[in-house]
Amino acid sequence: MKKILASIALLGAVTLVAAGCAGNAGGGGGGGEGDVLTVGFAQTGSESGWRAANTESMKEAFSEENGFNLIFNAADNKQEAQIAAVRSFINQGVDAIVIAPITVDGWDDVLKEAKDAGIPVVLEDRTVNVDDDSLYASWVGLDFEKEGETAGAWAKETFTEPTNMVVLEGTTGSAPALDRATGFATGSEGAPITTLDSQTGDFTRDGGKKVMEGFLQKYGDSINLLFAHNDDMGLGALDAITAAGLTPGTDIQIVTIDAVRDGMQALADGQFNFIVECNPLLGEKVAEVVKKVVAGETVEKTTIVEDQSFTPEQAKEALPDRKY
Ligand code: AHR
Repeated sequence: MKKILASIALLGAVTLVAAGCAGNAGGGGGGGEGDVLTVGFAQTGSESGWRAANTESMKEAFSEENGFNLIFNAADNKQEAQIAAVRSFINQGVDAIVIAPITVDGWDDVLKEAKDAGIPVVLEDRTVNVDDDSLYASWVGLDFEKEGETAGAWAKETFTEPTNMVVLEGTTGSAPALDRATGFATGSEGAPITTLDSQTGDFTRDGGKKVMEGFLQKYGDSINLLFAHNDDMGLGALDAITAAGLTPGTDIQIVTIDAVRDGMQALADGQFNFIVECNPLLGEKVAEVVKKVVAGETVEKTTIVEDQSFTPEQAKEALPDRKY
């Protein structure tokens, strides 16, 4: 029998979202019919609208009614805190661990500890770089490189004259920041676009605003194009652009990724020019994979959830039914 509730006091910031019957199958290699599965979920934090939608989707899917006892931790975008949360889940002897890894590197040791404790790990949203892929059972995520490539292809089609671009990057070392940058370069290859500057805004509105203020001070109205790795940073940049006396969407065209409601509204209003979707509604698929993994069934190593993209007209059409 694994250690269950004895270690809960150690948890600190961890919140018990749905306390199921932890004394029975919850912590002891559950998976049989009727068992409650205790699952620790190490979320990145709450940096963006996308993250809020993803957290909601996960909590909904890992509900008590669906047979889960979810232990939720949000690490405030700090990898040490996220690794500590995973260790705490291991100490509690959960049935499975789900991680949305903040960065791609630095996971080998703790994933090995989970493996040694016999606790399967499923990655959601972002993935990791590890020496041994068997350290996690499955990854349910998005094709970030393709998202960047779609954004880059739009820029190539839109800008046929010499163009100056600035980039608001996501969290340094995260899969979406790395892959979207690579994808954008591929999609825009051959376009007359010069990158004046590229800095991280950490996927937050505040970060996007501050970094864009710096870009505007340095490059003024020579900026024609902003590529923001997510909607929130683009939304933060809107304030900076307006405060500088420029019109977003016209003086500076803006392409972002996510397609959360606020971003879609900015697109419909003509402040953004193009958005590539990143679908946050992964909970149901992740819960299905977790159940199978705990039951010892074979699962796909990688499941990629499809994304689409939006022009202002398409955003106007999609907004009334947008779920997030
Ligand atoms: O990993 C997905 C990214 O993380 C989203 O694009 C961003 O908004 C979030 O913070």
